[in-house]
Amino acid sequence: MLQLSRARNIADLRLLARARLPRMVFDYIDGGADDEVTLRRNTAAFRDIELVWDTLKDVVNIDTSVTLMGETMRSPFFISPTASSRLFHPRGGESAVARAAKAAGVMYACSTLASISMEELDRVAPGPKWFQVYVWKDRELVAETLARAKAAGFTGIILTVDLPVAGNRERDYANDFTIPPKVTWRTASQALARPGYLYDLMTTPRIGTANFAHLKKLDGGLIDFVNAQFDRGVDWNGAAWMRDTWKGKLAIKGIATASDARRAVELGADAVWVSNHGGRQLDTAPATIDTLPAIADAVRGDAEIVLDSGVRRGTDIVKALALGANAVALGRGYLWGLAAGGEAGVARALTIFDEELRRAMALLGRTSIAALTPDIVFKRS
Ligand SMILES: Cc1cc2nc3c(=O)[nH]c(=O)nc-3n(C[C@H](O)[C@H](O)[C@H](O)COP(=O)(O)O)c2cc1C
Repeated sequence: MLQLSRARNIADLRLLARARLPRMVFDYIDGGADDEVTLRRNTAAFRDIELVWDTLKDVVNIDTSVTLMGETMRSPFFISPTASSRLFHPRGGESAVARAAKAAGVMYACSTLASISMEELDRVAPGPKWFQVYVWKDRELVAETLARAKAAGFTGIILTVDLPVAGNRERDYANDFTIPPKVTWRTASQALARPGYLYDLMTTPRIGTANFAHLKKLDGGLIDFVNAQFDRGVDWNGAAWMRDTWKGKLAIKGIATASDARRAVELGADAVWVSNHGGRQLDTAPATIDTLPAIADAVRGDAEIVLDSGVRRGTDIVKALALGANAVALGRGYLWGLAAGGEAGVARALTIFDEELRRAMALLGRTSIAALTPDIVFKRS
């Protein structure tokens, strides 16, 4: 079997993850909504964009550092929030990801639905981090969560706005998949086919929504909790409430149009985060890289811009930065590494992205992130 150190690219890490995880867990990471049209478009759209280079440039010294939401990072990419990381690596989970991010000098954004608490996370990976939130029905619970995040040293929050209801992930239905997993003949047979994973799962604490473990009503598991808390009535007033309640840096994640981007800027967001949730929410949404130029025009430099969804290669990062993003967020790109090998697997994923980015910049003849300008992009007609 392929080993972590021999994984040449993110696609190799995905294969390692598939070999390690029960099918239902692999599909939970890998899959998207409905017919997975957006999931496929997200990656295909990057491939439709071509790059042209400047020849005979001195590329001895390449600087990939950026500042985003007040934090300086060694690379223009960071960890996007994803729920329940212990499900993908029961021993490592969020701790493994946060440690690997810290070692690589990039930011870690922790999901509200993480499987270890924010306080525990700060113990294992002290230093600046971001926390992802929703505007839930129970505003007091959200306000209390923000206060805890501040006390635990989180310097910014990410308000996710593309999830008024959960997307229709049909692979999960087919696999009887829930968080935490329930025992059915299908889930049991899939788990038994991956004894290493099963052993780790059974010899580590039960996976739950650790930030809310003090709330007794959580016994129904993640999905019931999410369904009970998600408020379909949330509108821009809810976002304004969040802006008023949290005094630190704020990003709004899940922006798809120029007009919503502008609205986020006017509300006082520090960063506009262009995302379709990796194709897991509204299917047939356009690829984020295709909506980015119009959004960047509308933002006009009044806020920073983050892009995610479909980033798998260093050249994808280059394209997003050239078309107006200040940084990209990684979802499945690091999750496959986590599943493949815990902290070492995430470290491998981040190294792959870093090496690919540096190689692409050298080949382009551009030695700083600021030099990644739209003229390197050649869109095929
Ligand atoms: C397994 C999984 C769980 C996720 N959980 C969350 C979450 O809890 N909160 C959130 O804002 N986004 C969540 N996302 C979306 C990611 O933050 C990100 O937007 C997306 O994965 C980017 O697309 P990519 O996976 O193609 O890189 C999740 C994504 C995946 C794959």
